[in-house]
Amino acid sequence: MPFPESFIQELIERNDIADVVSQYVRLTKKSGQNLFGLCPFHSEKTPSFSVAPDKQIYHCFGCGKGGSVINFIMEIENLSYPDAVRFLARRVGMAVPEDEYDASASKRERMLKLNRDAARFFFAQLSEPCGAAARAYIERRGISPQMVTRFGLGAAPNEWQALTDAMLRQGYTKPELLSAGLVRASKKGDGGVYDTFRNRLMFPVIDVRGSVIGFSGRILDDGEPKYMNSPETLVYSKSHNLFALNLAKKSKLGYIILSEGNIDVVSLHQAGFDCAVASLGTSLTAEQARLISRYVNEVVIAYDGDEAGQKASQRAIGILQQLDLKVRVLRVTGAKDPDEFIKAYGPAAFENLLSKSQNHIEYRFSDVAAKHDLATDEGRVAFLKDATVLLAGLPNAVEREVYAGRAAEIAKVSKDAILREVERERKKAAGQAKKKRESEESRPLRQIQPRSRELRFDDPVSAMAEKGVLRLLCHDPTLFHGDELAEEDFSVPQFGKLYTALREQTKNGGAPSIALLQGFSGEETSLLTETVSEPFDPANADKALADYIEKIKAAKLVRMQRGENGEDTMRAFAEEQRKRKGYRG
Ligand code: GTP
Ligand code: MN
Repeated sequence: MPFPESFIQELIERNDIADVVSQYVRLTKKSGQNLFGLCPFHSEKTPSFSVAPDKQIYHCFGCGKGGSVINFIMEIENLSYPDAVRFLARRVGMAVPEDEYDASASKRERMLKLNRDAARFFFAQLSEPCGAAARAYIERRGISPQMVTRFGLGAAPNEWQALTDAMLRQGYTKPELLSAGLVRASKKGDGGVYDTFRNRLMFPVIDVRGSVIGFSGRILDDGEPKYMNSPETLVYSKSHNLFALNLAKKSKLGYIILSEGNIDVVSLHQAGFDCAVASLGTSLTAEQARLISRYVNEVVIAYDGDEAGQKASQRAIGILQQLDLKVRVLRVTGAKDPDEFIKAYGPAAFENLLSKSQNHIEYRFSDVAAKHDLATDEGRVAFLKDATVLLAGLPNAVEREVYAGRAAEIAKVSKDAILREVERERKKAAGQAKKKRESEESRPLRQIQPRSRELRFDDPVSAMAEKGVLRLLCHDPTLFHGDELAEEDFSVPQFGKLYTALREQTKNGGAPSIALLQGFSGEETSLLTETVSEPFDPANADKALADYIEKIKAAKLVRMQRGENGEDTMRAFAEEQRKRKGYRG
């Protein structure tokens, strides 16, 4: 009998995995996000036991064990799942619910409703005396009343419990407010809570379906931190959403302007550029780029004019280019950001910047050229080196040709010489990529078999692809759209079950969470943490997914032909082939 998901979620939140594990294992090393220590489940001298606080899971690269904090307690205290849950509940003084109810879907809906009510509350405060400071700020930044309404801006009062009280009155509970990130537990540990957002201008973050999924709050003066953002929740993932995409997706302009700040976005919309969006306090992610590519095929990057903005532009180009998006870069000159520029020079001047914006190759070219002193021989050689790498990275031969010509003019050498260098560079890169693929493919099949005896891969090629699908699903659920795979397509039944459970979690745009899965054995969970810990390349994820699906379906066909599926084989086979044609066409 599963526990309510909301309960498990709170249990996991309150029993932070790093804290719990630290009571048994000394976590000494830090590598990226992860902590490492000596594995308590097998003997070793160098740490291969990792804890990922962001995912709330552990995984040992040595013995392969892994899972959530609950799996950890099961393993180390030798308890059943329900007993491990009770153990952890006792540890933080939580009551264990006895009656079972399916709260997973309703929990999401309830959180979305809470967010919407919170947005309404913030909006309403703008007309109250306690909203005076935010009103004044809106005025000072020149934000029009139309924009306030369109974006649903609001005011978080300068009080500790204004939102808390209002939401409790509307029937929400403290745990609900906590897991939505709208309040925080008071440090006193007396069960009290206080509002996360206080004395701030509130920007609701609305997803493309129109649901309020989180908030950004800007401080009303020059204090720090300038912005506070919702934490990751059941409904909010900052790397998978963009501020104002809900509005920009309806724009008639046919492209998207990507800026850095919320205020820039509002300003741009107010000036008529209703296609502006901003990433939510992170640098652009591959998932966000993919989201953009669903609506337009052209992006104009309009980041701040400072060095940080230019660096971020370079990064964003790389990410957007992977998706075949046409990318241009707008340089804001004479102002720090698009907002300041429009305020100073007006919308027409911004339109002019837009029309002058360079395509990303020109942009990078001028950057490379500016880096070197082209008056000296050394400078020109260094420029050519950088330019060669840049040119070699262009997928299009015509572009390589054109820009090699440009490089030739700048460096005063022959274009042919440059193109020869570029071809050499490309061969080198292709050779490296091929080697890497081959070494991956030539791994002996026995190494692919799971470490546990409980699981056997009868069809290792399909099993590898199935792992690949699970890895992609955990890293980026937005890759999945419809019913690309069914549970029966999987050759390893456990993988099929995991796939179904994870898809269920991400059905409404939620984040996949290994820690929240219930009903899987320790072996199965370990297999999943292992899968997720394997390297993930966001750049080629789309293609990888298509490849995996192809492999899985092909393997299924072969199994059917062999008659492994009983007497209905021929009919099923014909059916499958029909579907397969549809899939490819
Ligand atoms: P101003 O133009 O200064 O009013 O602000 P802005 O809205 O243009 O934001 P800015 O360009 O300074 O920052 C870009 C984005 O980075 C913001 O929209 C936030 O998402 C994020 N950001 C800025 N400051 C902070 C901060 O202190 N904490 C966090 N978490 N995010 C921040
Ligand atoms: Mn700004």
